[in-house]
Amino acid sequence: MNILVATEKAFAPDAIRQIREVIEAAGFRLTLIENYKNVSELLGAVSDVDAMIVRSDMVTAEVLDSAKKLKIIVRAGAGYDNLDLASCTAHNVVAMNTPGQNSNAVAELVFEMILYHIRGGFSGKSGSELRIKTLGLHGFGNVGKYVADIAKGFGMDIYAYDPLVSERTMKNHGVKQCNSTEQLYSKCRYLSIHVPCNDITRKSIGYELLKSMPKDAVLVNTSRKEIINEEGLLKVFAERPDFSYLSDIEPDCKAVFEEKYKGRYLFTAKKMGAQTEEANINAGVAAARQIVSYFKTGNEKYKVNK
Ligand code: 3PG
Repeated sequence: MNILVATEKAFAPDAIRQIREVIEAAGFRLTLIENYKNVSELLGAVSDVDAMIVRSDMVTAEVLDSAKKLKIIVRAGAGYDNLDLASCTAHNVVAMNTPGQNSNAVAELVFEMILYHIRGGFSGKSGSELRIKTLGLHGFGNVGKYVADIAKGFGMDIYAYDPLVSERTMKNHGVKQCNSTEQLYSKCRYLSIHVPCNDITRKSIGYELLKSMPKDAVLVNTSRKEIINEEGLLKVFAERPDFSYLSDIEPDCKAVFEEKYKGRYLFTAKKMGAQTEEANINAGVAAARQIVSYFKTGNEKYKVNK
């Protein structure tokens, strides 16, 4: 079996070493394309592979058409909005993710961004503290739980909205349940988004929710830029000089922020949430193990296409 790791944003070397160990111990072969720049490189690399591990790499119908022998693709990470699931199914390819494996890294980035921002980028001007401030978690899955656990250490007052999670589970993490996004956003000065990107969530956070946030609001987005209605966000920015936006990846309207809102935003150029050695190892090795287990035993746990 030939297993391809195709990553436009490369894993840490130690993650590749451990992925290779899992694959070779199973008697399979590892092929690598890292830091590729063009889709044509990916199309060339997939022609002879039985399985693939990717990150945010776009797996389109075109990629799947070129991967004639492909049986399984694992997205080493949580969000699988980069996989064309209908096309995977049409090509008889099993698609999986590795939920939870990079969640702590993303949760830590939430605080790295907040702390840097509220201390004014260490510029010397007076900043602010997190103790007893309200934090809202929009989504209480794997990342939301880690964020809550860290926030407790800061002494924050934590709320969450997630229709799929019980009040009891939230309580176990020291979190108070909100019954709607309206309730959550209007209560919390700090708001961290942890929902997947899909047809329901795309552009779902806009003007009304954002303008309802308390004074000195800080919106933190480590999920996907597509969740935000950028028109609504810009309207809030124009009306409220106290509002900040921290995002793990630049929004489409980045040029407006650069021109008008210096000091009120922080954007990573490349998605950095899962870019730690630990997260690379956890997600990469989990992906390799899932592939081995699928070929050896038919295990389809974590399959995300129908
Ligand atoms: C995820 O959905 O797991 C994160 O966004 C990480 O994406 P990445 O593997 O491209 O860094």
